[in-house]
Amino acid sequence: MRFLRSAALRGEESRQVLLLMGPVGAGKSALTEHIKGALEGLPYYHLKNDPQRGEPLQLVPRSLRKEFEEMLDVTIDGDISPVVRHLLMEEYDGKYEQFEVVESTFSQRARRGVASVPPMDANSQDVSVLIGSEDISKLDKYSEDDPRALSLNGAFNVGNRGIVELVEVFKNEIEFLHTIITATQEKRIPSPGKHDMLHFDGVILAHCNEAEWNRFQSEHTNEAILDRIVRVDVPYVLELEQEIKIYKKILSRSNFDVHIAPHTLRVASMFSILSRLKHSQKCDYLTKLKIYNGEEVVEKGRVKKIDIRDLRDEAPKEGMHGISTRFIMKAIDNALSDSEKSFITPISMMDSLMKQVKEQIIDLDFANNCLDIIRNTVRNEYLRMLESEIAKAFITAYEEQAQSIFENYLDNAEAFTTKSKMKDRITKEEREPDESFMKAIEGSIGVSTSGREGFRADVTAYMFAKMRRNETIDYRSYEPLKEAIETYLISSVKDLARIVTKSKTRDDEQKQKYSTMVQTLIDDYGYTADSAEEILVYASNNLWRDS
Ligand SMILES: Nc1ncnc2c1ncn2[C@@H]1O[C@H](COP(=O)(O)OP(=O)(O)O)[C@@H](O)[C@H]1O
Ligand SMILES: [Mg+2]
Repeated sequence: MRFLRSAALRGEESRQVLLLMGPVGAGKSALTEHIKGALEGLPYYHLKNDPQRGEPLQLVPRSLRKEFEEMLDVTIDGDISPVVRHLLMEEYDGKYEQFEVVESTFSQRARRGVASVPPMDANSQDVSVLIGSEDISKLDKYSEDDPRALSLNGAFNVGNRGIVELVEVFKNEIEFLHTIITATQEKRIPSPGKHDMLHFDGVILAHCNEAEWNRFQSEHTNEAILDRIVRVDVPYVLELEQEIKIYKKILSRSNFDVHIAPHTLRVASMFSILSRLKHSQKCDYLTKLKIYNGEEVVEKGRVKKIDIRDLRDEAPKEGMHGISTRFIMKAIDNALSDSEKSFITPISMMDSLMKQVKEQIIDLDFANNCLDIIRNTVRNEYLRMLESEIAKAFITAYEEQAQSIFENYLDNAEAFTTKSKMKDRITKEEREPDESFMKAIEGSIGVSTSGREGFRADVTAYMFAKMRRNETIDYRSYEPLKEAIETYLISSVKDLARIVTKSKTRDDEQKQKYSTMVQTLIDDYGYTADSAEEILVYASNNLWRDS
């Protein structure tokens, strides 16, 4: 945005190429499509029958421009094309004020104001793609310098006053790129045939990946072009929620009609992001992932104080390497098209990811690192989520229970902190704060004996500050307390969850509990009967190992 704004204000950027540089699948093409899409359909005025759709004010003769510019408070740049000049003389008798002006809308498909140049190999590349050509069939009718023989249909002609996109720009031979130099610095492009250069005014938007950029940059003969490039890095997404959104978006466009169990895309996205992160001195990879994702990481009753900016400063260039979005999409597609099932789960997702790593990643160190991420970090984190989800599903009316514990804890902590008595809500009887209840909650996230007082004071201060700002509070408001309540609740059913899930034969009561739990997974957590069964089998084999 900064580039485009300065360019619009005639800063040096108006004479530069905007280059998006980043790894494959980081969204360079998608971003470019968005930028072009923003122009699509917008109207602009231009000279009638001008293949370059030039600016009408370019008709104003040089000798009168100063006056016009003052009168209209505009700047008039550039000159009409030879085609327009010819029309002006032949059809309008030189009366520029009578030249017709028409309105068109930007359209990439109709090649109005938006042009895209794919990379071409040495044999097929031809500058006519950029600047048009002379129409040989017309050359027996017109002389060689007659503008009527010109076909100004190159990308720079079409993209005049709009956008010229150069797809994977450095895949082209360098000679092919020289047009860029004049187009940027002089705002002029060569004309086919024997004509003077043509005015060009537009955004030149190019993209490439890092290897191509490095190769290009290392050739000192490319200095002239390098000097005319503003590079913007386009790294991979490093925020988990954003990465998940990418796959949801891509899947919503496909015709796959299979059930995707909860956490499946999360597991895949965790893997891709972990593969992109650089080592930090301050925390482990998973913590870094969570902090980048805006989550609060709780340790010993406190939110871990790691500044996201410090993590970023520690690793400039992060996100320029690692697993690409396409790699993940392929793994998702493979898991989905596995014909035997009509659903995928995090379990089949992890299998598919591992299979694909083994098949496709040639760099052995990186492949091993990837396998390690899936087998350990991702798998363990998934098991942790799974364990608490199953336990939660055993708790009837989980949210209400959590909320009521929260309110109770808050009352107690407040009384403790302000050294006052608790008043029973119903009997109005006064009593001491319930020490053992508070200890149980605090103990579940490892708040130490010496840390208790501080923890209670923190919780109370935090909640009252929120209430003073008229914000609503619930058990999720303060991350350490939320975690304490969840852990407390979950551990209260852990044994039940383990026994009921693992046992092959269940008595009637257990059967009842089990089927209620499965129903909760289906109704509230988004599983189907099949996918719930798959994850429960996985849980009973991998969680709660008999010790
Ligand atoms: N940051 C992102 N935001 C939205 N979609 C993204 C992002 N990164 C990648 N994608 C999606 O991933 C796919 C591949 O991206 P693409 O633009 O073709 O990458 P590139 O041109 O950088 O190789 C596209 O479907 C794109 O929409
Ligand atoms: Mg691309």
